[in-house]
Amino acid sequence: MKAIICKSFDQPLEFGKLSRPEIAADEVLIEVHYVGVNFPDTLIVKGKYQFTPELPFSPGQEVSGEVVEIGDLVTHVKVGDRVLASMTWGGMAELAKANAQNVYLLPDNITMRDAACILETYATAFHALKDRGNLKSGERLLVLGASGGTGTAAVQLGKLFGSEVIAVASAKEKRDYASSNGADTVLGYENLKENLKNIGGVDVIFDPVGGEVSQQVFRAINTGGRHLIVGFASGKMPVIPMNLPLLKSASVVGVFWGSFWRNEPFENRKNVALLLNWFAAGKLKVGINQMYSLEEGAKAIEDLANRKAVGKIVLKTKNAD
Ligand SMILES: NC(=O)c1ccc[n+]([C@@H]2O[C@H](COP(=O)([O-])OP(=O)(O)OC[C@H]3O[C@@H](n4cnc5c(N)ncnc54)[C@H](OP(=O)(O)O)[C@@H]3O)[C@@H](O)[C@H]2O)c1
Repeated sequence: MKAIICKSFDQPLEFGKLSRPEIAADEVLIEVHYVGVNFPDTLIVKGKYQFTPELPFSPGQEVSGEVVEIGDLVTHVKVGDRVLASMTWGGMAELAKANAQNVYLLPDNITMRDAACILETYATAFHALKDRGNLKSGERLLVLGASGGTGTAAVQLGKLFGSEVIAVASAKEKRDYASSNGADTVLGYENLKENLKNIGGVDVIFDPVGGEVSQQVFRAINTGGRHLIVGFASGKMPVIPMNLPLLKSASVVGVFWGSFWRNEPFENRKNVALLLNWFAAGKLKVGINQMYSLEEGAKAIEDLANRKAVGKIVLKTKNAD
């Protein structure tokens, strides 16, 4: 099968052939139609992710497509079903396998294209805001990296929760996108702490960026606030002096969706079912701005790594309609 292939962590990715994946009893094989591109793809191909696959491998953490084979223990999907699925790697290929617990039937009125962009970003943001942040209606939510994958999802979900959403993005194009995505107020990184204090501070911080900005925004958190540590797209680990959470009675809260779906699969499936209902009802909307072919997977990953993406990047395979 054709695939984007990582043969070495210090060489460019190639488009070539890998053997057809073999599935275990609890796995599902999917003919891939679309692949969502995510920040972890940029790390895994450099050997810098939490998990290091054996070489050669194909990156890609979420796909939509059609089931072509199921393991003996799989009961909730059958051959021919339209599905979306997540995996740690292996999605950027004509065929991808996933553990059955991460395979979901796709409602008729959600397109395959959109379905490839739901799990990694929306399920992460939903877990962050609901399960870890306990975001409440009327609270003020700050979203850093608001034009990125998880940021886009956090802005939309924040509005659905009934919160006031302040979005932060680096460039005008990204700020315009965040505004059109529903943010109430959009700010740049300049004088961020002062600007946030001037509007009365923030209650919950969704932070997929890290680095120096994390400490700045924590200084604008309100009493009882929650700072959700989602990721470090800036490549820098933030440092928050421990006197700050004390002074504000505020919490620094870790978010790890991968650990959530592994340890609490039923709760995760409930979250995804809710998200799919909201997509089907038009309450959430995937913001895809760039579409590439599977062959162009290396360029798509490079663009994401180089901060060029606005909204979501998706790859289309030759099987897609
Ligand atoms: N904890 C979890 O369970 C979980 C799940 C999924 C992803 N993540 C992590 O969350 C982070 C963001 O993921 P994402 O999908 O939202 O990524 P993304 O689509 O690339 O968005 C990240 C945003 O970060 C900002 N950024 C600031 N400095 C950057 C830099 N040096 N390089 C690239 N972007 C930079 C960019 O916005 P501006 O240009 O506006 O600053 C960009 O839009 C990653 O670290 C990822 O690994 C964590």
